[in-house]
Amino acid sequence: MKKFTLGTSKEQILSMINERSIKRVLVGDQKIALVRIGSEFFAFQAFCPHRGASLVEGQLNSINEIICPLHQYRFEIKSGRVSAGSCSDLETYPAFLAENGLVITLP
Ligand code: FES
Repeated sequence: MKKFTLGTSKEQILSMINERSIKRVLVGDQKIALVRIGSEFFAFQAFCPHRGASLVEGQLNSINEIICPLHQYRFEIKSGRVSAGSCSDLETYPAFLAENGLVITLP
C-alpha cells in the first residue's frame, strides 16, 4: 500500500474540490475518481468495472450512489458495492482530510 498526500492544506483541498461533483485526480501514476460530501472524501476507480466507461462523467444520486453514464449501473460510494447491475464492485481507496492535505491510500 502507498500513501499519497494531495495539496498542502485542509483549506486548499476544501476550496479546490466542490461538494458532490465527481473529479478525476492523478495519484502517483494512477487516475482515480474523487467525491467530497461535506468534509468526507471518497476515492474510487475512475473507470466502471462493467465496460470501462468514465465514472467522472457519471452522476451522484441523492442516496450517494455513483451512476455510470453508459448503462446506468449504480455503486454505493462508501463501500463500492454494486447496487444495480451485474458486475464486480467498484474498487475504493481510503481517503481522509488531514491538516496538510488529502491523504489517499492506494493498494
Ligand atoms: S460501463 Fe458502466 S454500467 Fe456499463
